[in-house]
Amino acid sequence: MQKNILPIIKNGVQQRRYAQIIGWGKSLPSKILTNKDLELILDTNDEWIKSRSGINQRHIVGPKESTSTLAIRASKEALKIADISPRSIDLIICATDTPDYLFPATACLIQDALGASKAGAFDIEIGCCGFIYALSIANSYIISGIYQNILVVAAESMSKVIDWSDRSTAVLFGDGAAAVIIQATEKPTGLVSFVLGADGSGADLLIMPGGGSRNPTSIETVENRMHYLKMSGTEVYKFAINAMIKATKEALLKANMTIDEIDLMIPHQANNRIIENAIKSLNIEREKVFLNLEHVGNTSSAAVAIALVEAIESGKIKTGYNIILVAFGAGLSWASAILRWGISPVVPSLPWWKSIQYRYRRLRAKLRSFFKRIRRRIGSLFTLD
Ligand code: UT7
Repeated sequence: MQKNILPIIKNGVQQRRYAQIIGWGKSLPSKILTNKDLELILDTNDEWIKSRSGINQRHIVGPKESTSTLAIRASKEALKIADISPRSIDLIICATDTPDYLFPATACLIQDALGASKAGAFDIEIGCCGFIYALSIANSYIISGIYQNILVVAAESMSKVIDWSDRSTAVLFGDGAAAVIIQATEKPTGLVSFVLGADGSGADLLIMPGGGSRNPTSIETVENRMHYLKMSGTEVYKFAINAMIKATKEALLKANMTIDEIDLMIPHQANNRIIENAIKSLNIEREKVFLNLEHVGNTSSAAVAIALVEAIESGKIKTGYNIILVAFGAGLSWASAILRWGISPVVPSLPWWKSIQYRYRRLRAKLRSFFKRIRRRIGSLFTLD
C-alpha cells in the first residue's frame, strides 16, 4: 500500500516541503536521420531545413522501439543517478502525445518494466508543454506532503505519427525521451513558480484528427491520412513567439524575479527563429539559452526534458542556478517554470557492487511481471461463480 508522507517536522516545527530533482536520464534512439537523408525521400533540402528551423538531424525509433521503450531506458538512467530503488517511487507521470496505446497508459508499462510496485501511474497529453505540466503536478503532490518520490518522464515517438510525404512537418520532428526523479526536501529548491496556459480555440492548428472518439479509425480516416499529425506551421509560429514571451514574463512575476536573475533558459526546441525572436524581446543573453534542436529536432513533450538533461550533462547547470523552462504547442497550450537547482549536477562514479544491484533489480522486475502474467493466465482457467 502507498504511504502518504506526513509533513517534515523538526524541533516540533513543521518544515515547508520542496520538490527537488535528484536523478535524470535521457534516451535517444540510435538511428539518426539527417537532412541529407530527407533529401532522398522528400522535395526538400538541407539548406531550407537548417535556415528555417535550425535542425540538422533527428533520432528515429527502430521497429522494435516505441515510446515506452525510450521512456523505460531514460527512467532507468534517472533511477541510477538518484540511487533509489524503483520500489520507493510513489507515482509515475508520463507526458506523451504518442503513447504506445490509446489505453492503457504508457506510465503503467513503465511501472511494470521498472518494478515500481508501489507506484500509481498515469499519462498526461498536452503536446510540447507535457514535461512542464508534469513537473508542476509532481511538485504539487510533493509539497502538499502526499508523496515523497515521483518519476516524471516525457517520451515521444513522433516518427510514428508523421506523414512522411508531408515535407512541411516531416523535417521538423524526432523521437526521444528524458526522465527526472523528484524527491521531497526541506531545502528551498525545486520549482519556484510555474505557469500553465491553454487556448483550445486553436486546437485545429496542430492536431492528429483521426483515431480518437471524434473520428474513430476507419477506412476513410486512413485514406484521408487523418492518423497523421497536421500543422498550420505559420499560425503556430506566430502564436509560439508571443506564448514564450508571455509565459516567461508571468513565471518571473510569480517568482518575484527579473530576467537578470535567470542563469539558464531551456526553451521548447521547435525552431531556432522562434527562440531567437523570443529571447530578443525578453532581453536575455544568448549564452544563457540552451539549444539542442540542431541534433535532436522537435521531440514534442520530451524536448524541454531532453534539453534539461543535456544541459546538466554538458556542465551548463550549477548548484543554486535559477533555470527557466518554457514551452508552447498543441492545444494550443503554453507553460513555463522557474526551477532552482538544488544538488550537485556532478554524478559520482558508482561502486562496482551497484551495477550488480541494478542488474538484480531489473531481473526481479522482469520475473515479477512474468509470474504475475502466468498467475493471471492460470486464474483465468477457473471460471467464477
Ligand atoms: O512543437 C510544435 C510546435 N510547432 C512549431 O513550433 C512549428 C512552428 N512553425 C515553424 O516552425 C515554421 O512555420 C515552419 C518551419 C514549419 C515553416 O517555416 P516558414 O518560414 O513558416 O515556411 P512556410 O510554411 O511559410 O513555407 C515557405 C515555403 C513554401 O513554399 P512557397 O509557397 O513559398 O513556394 C513551402 O511550400 O517553403 C516551402 N516548404 C519547404 N521547402 C523545402 C515548406 N516545407 C518545406 C521543406 N523543404 N521541408
